[in-house]
Amino acid sequence: MTIKNLTIPVSLSSSEFFENPYPFYDKLRSIHPIYKGNFLKYPGWYVTGYAEAAAILKDTRFKNRIPLPENSQKYSELKNMQHHMMLFKNPPDHKRIRMMVSRAFTPRFAESYRPYINETVNVLLNEVQYKRTMDVVSDFAFPLASLIIAKMLGVPAGESYQFREWAASLIQTIDFTRSRKELTKGNDKAIKLIAYFKDLIQQKKHNPQNDLISMLMKEQQDERLSDEELLATCILLVIAGHETTVNLISNSILSLLNHPEKLMELKEKPSLIESAVEEFLRYESPTQMTARVASEDIEMNGMMIKKEEHVYILLGAANRDPKKFTHPHVLDITRNPNPHLAFGQGIHFCLGSSLARLEAQIAICTLLQRIPNLQLSTPNVQYRKLIGFRSLTELPVTF
Ligand code: HEM
Repeated sequence: MTIKNLTIPVSLSSSEFFENPYPFYDKLRSIHPIYKGNFLKYPGWYVTGYAEAAAILKDTRFKNRIPLPENSQKYSELKNMQHHMMLFKNPPDHKRIRMMVSRAFTPRFAESYRPYINETVNVLLNEVQYKRTMDVVSDFAFPLASLIIAKMLGVPAGESYQFREWAASLIQTIDFTRSRKELTKGNDKAIKLIAYFKDLIQQKKHNPQNDLISMLMKEQQDERLSDEELLATCILLVIAGHETTVNLISNSILSLLNHPEKLMELKEKPSLIESAVEEFLRYESPTQMTARVASEDIEMNGMMIKKEEHVYILLGAANRDPKKFTHPHVLDITRNPNPHLAFGQGIHFCLGSSLARLEAQIAICTLLQRIPNLQLSTPNVQYRKLIGFRSLTELPVTF
């Protein structure tokens, strides 16, 4: 199929796009839900249709790419570390690593964190309650995500403050806007993170505890997980467990502040929190894009995707496809069913989904209960210039 007369309204690096990417997604989808373009460094197929995105995520002929150029000396540590992450692995290695790690990620496991999440949320709110102002991102969502992931990995609570800088810098290395400068900076952070976790793993060898690292070290005794894979898993969890959860909590609060009638509805009926969080995941998906590479020529919806071509799956666009969701641009906190793709689909479906959902439900509910008169303190919020993540730089509020 050939497509003619194409005018795309904005560039992917314009502030207009970062403020509101949805008109761009709609435009692309109206031309074709799988559209070949060169908006990013590597040309590829932009998938904006729900059915097509779900089909590609489930089709293992689309492989997870190794994310950095092959011959990069300046970021070899980073590249090596990413190479061992399950997120960038394909079967059979992916299955082996995922099986081991997933034992620690059951819904029951997430539930066991409920008391700790409750306590942490309340401690963080105690600190800001009388200041009458806070930045939801740095005073609330980030420390919450850091403390939970630290507890899970068995990192002493006082040391989790460093995660923020590490996670923020490493997330840019997996985003397609990344520059060489960011990759080099990310490499420095990767070196620090590797040294930190090597040390922690060493300590746990002598003193194993009831945490994820100690659990994975037992698997190592059967030689089912290499040293590099254990390290890469710890670092993946630090990155994956931070950025997206912070984005979910802060995007949800912003969506509610922009829709006062929904804010009121949720305050009056807190039992809506589960469906509300699903809707926030759909409406402002924390992960906006993931990518694959075709391992062979594959025909899909009239398009021929050739071997080695890149496929950019725009989850944020699929989640607003009118063919799947009625009134996709309307925030409906009672929407049911809500089969969004915010956590992906197929073999790489997010391992932390139960934990992320629980954290967001508790954080949002408690915040609305304890601080009922929340107000935005700026008319203009800003997003970080990331294409794969919907990430607010800050969210200042008063109360
Ligand atoms: C709102 C929060 C979150 C969102 C939106 C999210 C989203 C995603 C998505 C879309 C993927 C699949 C990527 C792909 O197919 O290429 C993924 C994978 C993953 N996520 Fe999450 N995530 C969140 C929170 C978390 C948390 C809290 C953790 C861990 C503590 C986590 C750990 C992982 C891991 C380990 C993978 C890789 C799974 C694999 O490759 O098999 N995520 N996540």
